[in-house]
Amino acid sequence: MGFNVYVTRVIPEPGLAVLRKECETTDVNPDDRVLTREELLSEVKGRDGVLCLLTDKIDAEVFDAASGAKIFANYAVGYDNIDVPAATERGIAITNTPGVLTDATSDMAWSLLFTIARRTAESDKYTRAGKFKGWGPMLFLGGDITDRTLGIIGAGRIGTAFARKSVGFRMKVLYSDVRENKELEKEVGAKKVDLDTLLKEADYISVHVPLMPETTHLIGKREFGLMKKSAYLINTSRGPVVDEKALVEALKSGEIAGAGLDVYEKEPEVEPGLFKLDNIVLAPHLGSATIETRTKMATMAAGNLVAMLKGEEPPNIVNPEVLKK
Ligand code: GLV
Ligand code: GLV
Repeated sequence: MGFNVYVTRVIPEPGLAVLRKECETTDVNPDDRVLTREELLSEVKGRDGVLCLLTDKIDAEVFDAASGAKIFANYAVGYDNIDVPAATERGIAITNTPGVLTDATSDMAWSLLFTIARRTAESDKYTRAGKFKGWGPMLFLGGDITDRTLGIIGAGRIGTAFARKSVGFRMKVLYSDVRENKELEKEVGAKKVDLDTLLKEADYISVHVPLMPETTHLIGKREFGLMKKSAYLINTSRGPVVDEKALVEALKSGEIAGAGLDVYEKEPEVEPGLFKLDNIVLAPHLGSATIETRTKMATMAAGNLVAMLKGEEPPNIVNPEVLKK
């Protein structure tokens, strides 16, 4: 069919196989690293479509370099790395990979919650260092999980899946969202409250909002001040939702008990103050990082790309306006 597509970094083979089957040219960044800006601008030239990652900044300059491209298929559910209005203006479709990573990402949030509450990462280091001299009544005391209150900020797909998984721990669930989530209320007895009430009452607070101007630094100095001293914050959404400098202060001063982060304000940079703290667990953006999930994301992103090139509606288009043009 003569399609010419580019993939900005190696993704699981089944996704690449879809592209190779349907396209005449499928070029893939041969190096397992993020493309430089210059490489990105030069590689997108002359392509009909591009499969890009959340680590690629896709803006007007990139779209202009890729003149003729019909689609940029993002290999992520979040697409804050893409200037969608600039794409829409140029009639370029943008797609994402919703749904397939809901369970993996909500599982990762639980993994961080368990790890920080029961000090698993910190005590692993201690044990490996040969410091374990026997059971101790005061050794690595953490926080209870069962019967505590869970606060979900953003009850979309991932926040809802995260909340559902709390049932076995008999947790009381509070959520804050611009929308009501009747299903969540019915299923787990969740109660919708305003953000401040959630911050004041929850023992574990997990963030599941998309990054937008309204959610940037949603959690900062004022918000940490409202939380319980025994509260834990978990963030698997996007780094800039939490003010990292304020988080360092809150953890240092004991304003909150601990935090688990999978995402950072200036990835891959991490606020240096965080490294000095024991009451935080730091993961390198692994929310969707399971073999099964990454494979599904790969075939989904490739499927979106191919659909657009064939003149069909991509199943996960985020700017459907471009199809009407
Ligand atoms: C991962 O962070 C995603 O948005 O898919
Ligand atoms: C994203 O998938 C969300 O709705 O949480």
